[in-house]
Amino acid sequence: MKFITVDSYEKLSRQAANIISAQVIIKPDSVLGLATGSSPLGTYRQLIDWYEKGDIDFSECISVNLDEYVGLGGENDQSYRYFMNHNFFHAINIKPENTFVPNGCAEDLAAECEKYDARIADLGGIDLQLLGIGLDGHIGFNEPDDYFVKNTHVVELHESTIKANSRFFENEAEVPRRAVTMGMVSIMQAKKILLIASGKNKRDIVEKAFFGPITPKIPASILQLHPDITVIQCLN
Ligand code: F6R
Repeated sequence: MKFITVDSYEKLSRQAANIISAQVIIKPDSVLGLATGSSPLGTYRQLIDWYEKGDIDFSECISVNLDEYVGLGGENDQSYRYFMNHNFFHAINIKPENTFVPNGCAEDLAAECEKYDARIADLGGIDLQLLGIGLDGHIGFNEPDDYFVKNTHVVELHESTIKANSRFFENEAEVPRRAVTMGMVSIMQAKKILLIASGKNKRDIVEKAFFGPITPKIPASILQLHPDITVIQCLN
């Protein structure tokens, strides 16, 4: 595990963008596993900046996102599809048909989950998976549990996650209670993993996840077993 600590969100974003950029330059048709939330926003902004300068080309890339709220369609500005389109995809030259986010409005969610895993397998797996980490140690929306869930699945969000994510909604009641999330197999089979954690409030969970016991009570702790993971932490 490579563990990097920096002193500003700007540096974290630039380092993360550097790793993603190197991946895309070395393998232009990379399958990028992407995340939403506050942590990757600066990384996406940096990548957009380099794209606009002509330094990086996403035209052959494929993206698969980690998760989506159940019941929110892509036109809903709280959905993760909307987030990705507006904070990244629309500003770069990735082909829209090469961007995948689970469909939280699928009539048959179990079938959607199976389809999502099959798609990732068909693509040959993920080359580089970008992750944030929740205050309870979740990755994607794999919440603390008695066991690790292997495949893409529907999850009931924990109270702490609903509270944390309510900052993006008018109020807590509006936060969907369920989400579709990639499971641990697709995440752990990614060839490389890059986890970014920003802010003092993430310090404790990062310590537990990467320097404590491996337990499904802290889902991110499983990442200690990954052969090629970089963690970038910013303490401010
Ligand atoms: C989002 C995701 C989540 C977030 C986590 C941290 O797609 O998978 O696991 O990475 O909730 O969110 P932020 O970055 O907003 O603190």
